[in-house]
Amino acid sequence: MFIISYIFLLGLSHIAANQTCTPAFISIKNQSIEIYEENYKNYTKRSDLGSPEPLLHQNLSVQAFLETTPCGVSARDPDQMIIAGGPAPEKLFPWQVGLVSPRGLCGGVLISSSWALTAAHCPVGENTTGILGSVLLHTRHPRKQIRRVKIAVRHENFSLKSLLNDVALVKFDSPVVLNDYVRPICLPKKGDVFDGVNACFISGWGRLSKSPGPKPPLQFGRTSVMPESICFYTLRLYGRHLKKGELCSDLAGSFVGRGDSGGPLSCKVGGRYYAAGLASYTIKPPRRDITFLPEMFSKVSEFIDWILKTIEEHGL
Ligand SMILES: *[C@@H]1O[C@H](CO)[C@@H](O)[C@H](O)[C@H]1NC(C)=O
Ligand SMILES: *[C@@H]1O[C@H](CO)[C@@H](O)[C@H](O)[C@H]1NC(C)=O
Ligand SMILES: *[C@@H]1O[C@H](CO)[C@@H](O)[C@H](O)[C@H]1NC(C)=O
Ligand SMILES: *[C@@H]1O[C@H](CO)[C@@H](O)[C@H](O)[C@H]1NC(C)=O
Ligand SMILES: *[C@@H]1O[C@H](CO)[C@@H](O)[C@H](O)[C@H]1NC(C)=O
Ligand SMILES: *[C@@H]1O[C@H](CO)[C@@H](O)[C@H](O)[C@H]1NC(C)=O
Repeated sequence: MFIISYIFLLGLSHIAANQTCTPAFISIKNQSIEIYEENYKNYTKRSDLGSPEPLLHQNLSVQAFLETTPCGVSARDPDQMIIAGGPAPEKLFPWQVGLVSPRGLCGGVLISSSWALTAAHCPVGENTTGILGSVLLHTRHPRKQIRRVKIAVRHENFSLKSLLNDVALVKFDSPVVLNDYVRPICLPKKGDVFDGVNACFISGWGRLSKSPGPKPPLQFGRTSVMPESICFYTLRLYGRHLKKGELCSDLAGSFVGRGDSGGPLSCKVGGRYYAAGLASYTIKPPRRDITFLPEMFSKVSEFIDWILKTIEEHGL
């Protein structure tokens, strides 16, 4: 117990992470994917994962669009909230998506006006509805946007048994309208590490649930990304292994079990929020008095190649 508590504290007191992320925004133009990176207010086009080329030949309206609807910026910054969790007010997580399927509810995160990321173990398919723009899932709301899922693509190497590669993409039947209530999160770059970033938030309506009744408003909780080495040893104490493409949030605490599968772990780096993780599973405590096990997420920065390839294949 003592040892575990020590690791817990170590995790929380981890010193500032290296802020290596560049905001990226996926733009859909002329049936081809374009990724823009911000570099000191200059937007440069990143052709797939190759070297960036300046946006000089691009029409300025793209830049104007990016400036008015940037990714990962919330009209109400979760980091400025006095409370560290509870019911989320409107506009706090404009990238949050509710994915309602006949077989249950999952969370998702908007990465462009037509595509959202979720967990591959979620029962998403042609009968799934995406709900955006409102903290209330089953209540009318003037800002709510509802879309049908047209395409759902699971990672080709997803394993339901081990939950390896627990990542999926869904495409809506029509693009959502971006505003303060609905806005994409920034996608990290391939290999970005969020270790020790402490302005992170999980959000969701409740775990994968089959109950048809109304859900409470969106809930959120503050957490941080547990450094990989600490996660590795913490899991090892329970005879588990940290798998490739996984990330631990620091000790789920009171929020444990409330994040929807597939919902985002939104981390603030350099003033913007990134999809650092997608809620994958929680580890069942071996004893009732152990409540500080990490919550496991799919590590989005490990799947960037797959995300871009999939969006390219299925069109924008
Ligand atoms: C952070 O990045 C800087 C510059 O890239 C590097 O010199 C430094 O060692 C890094 N720190 C850590 C803890 O990785
Ligand atoms: C769209 O793409 C097609 C084929 O790549 C190209 O011929 C056309 O000029 C493009 N249109 C614009 C407006 O960029
Ligand atoms: C933006 O990019 C252009 C061309 O690369 C360069 O001339 C200009 O100085 C850049 N502006 C800033 C603020 O970095
Ligand atoms: C850029 O946008 C302007 C105004 O929207 C339009 O008139 C112009 O034709 C566009 N240029 C190109 C190269 O698409
Ligand atoms: C979707 O719903 C229709 C009509 O209820 C049903 O026929 C179909 O099998 C469902 N598809 C899936 C993948 O569940
Ligand atoms: C899936 O696994 C195969 C075999 O290990 C590998 O060749 C392939 O690259 C993997 N796919 C992805 C998207 O990682």
